[in-house]
Amino acid sequence: MNILVTGGAGYIGSHTCIELLDAGFNPIVFDNLSNSSTIALDRVEEITGKKITFIRGDVRDSEALDQVFSQHDIYAVIHFAGLKAVGESVEKPIMYYDNNVSGSITLFASMERNNITRIIFSSSATVYGDPASVPITENFPTSTTNPYGGSKLIIEDVLKNIYVAHQDWNIALLRYFNPVGAHESGLIGEDPSDIPNNLMPYISGVAVGKLDKLSIFGDDYPTADGTGVRDYIHVVDLAKGHVKALQAFENKAVDNLYTVNLGTGKGYSVLEMVEAFKKASGKDIAYQITSRRAGDIACCYADPSYAKELIDWEATKGIQAMCDDTWRWQSNNPLGYK
Ligand code: NAD
Ligand code: UD1
Repeated sequence: MNILVTGGAGYIGSHTCIELLDAGFNPIVFDNLSNSSTIALDRVEEITGKKITFIRGDVRDSEALDQVFSQHDIYAVIHFAGLKAVGESVEKPIMYYDNNVSGSITLFASMERNNITRIIFSSSATVYGDPASVPITENFPTSTTNPYGGSKLIIEDVLKNIYVAHQDWNIALLRYFNPVGAHESGLIGEDPSDIPNNLMPYISGVAVGKLDKLSIFGDDYPTADGTGVRDYIHVVDLAKGHVKALQAFENKAVDNLYTVNLGTGKGYSVLEMVEAFKKASGKDIAYQITSRRAGDIACCYADPSYAKELIDWEATKGIQAMCDDTWRWQSNNPLGYK
């Protein structure tokens, strides 16, 4: 079965292609390469020994999408394509709403025209804003403090509205917590084009000697050691969640529109992550404590039990595998795909 994977050359998309191929699906990647490289897909082919169809295109281009849907028999779409840097979204809100929201609407319109009725959408734990408590369940109130988060909430709403009009559609809204790690081969991983914004690529950049020292954004949060706590999830576990979400479309006990958290249910602090990475890499991680980053929250982790119940998915990889696999990727590819 052909699966159109928008943004499939990116970090989560490339890992998901492996799991799709392993599960017998045929991913067709549609990506404008604005934040990725086709080398990732060459490596996916190397890992799996299987071929991937790649189409360079933009999800805002309805003609290109119509062409894909008319030339290939597509069973479902997994929609990763989008921009994801929170800080940049504050600087360039129009670019973010155009790429993420207009791109998604163009995609959904093309799906509607071409009678493609199954979609899995990459949402984010950012839609929970600053949660009143943890762990976070799917029915917590949603809110947003930046255009990136705003774009995710709008797209979720658009899909919910589409479902009201088209109850035969199958729609999965997957809310990812903090994806980290890399494929255990060390051949593919996260490859930020600039100085990383997120913790794990920053730590691994320091370990490999590309970056000087980590700034820890605040040690005065109401957490055990004062640093921020997050639910880090191995990207391979996350990728497998997409296969489970696809398979659940065939399970009549699952509603045609559903929302699930993809997280581990465990929170780790910044200092705990630094310690775990030191152990994995055998390198010292220089750091300094700086002031809090605007918009950051103290603590965020999922209640993942609904994903287990609904789509029979749960994370299996722990913090050490997340760090070991990130380090294998980073040390084998210090310049990423360049
Ligand atoms: P990524 O940047 O590695 O992948 C996104 C891919 O989409 C890239 O290959 C990029 O070239 C492509 N793309 C961007 N705009 C496009 C467009 N208009 N048309 C076609 N292709 C386009 O990011 P990722 O970490 O793999 O994230 C994938 C999705 O998951 C994104 O929607 C992101 O918002 C969401 N998400 C990511 C995280 C995270 O921390 N990585 C957390 C929650 C949600
Ligand atoms: C960020 C985004 C969020 C997005 C998520 C996954 C912000 C405010 N939020 O979340 O919307 O869904 O990424 O892509 O950007 N940290 C440091 N030093 C660093 C980097 C991070 O101390 O150099 C700390 C942060 O304060 C936080 C933790 O590490 O406590 C994790 O940060 P990060 O990886 O950026 O993820 P989030 O802030 O959870």
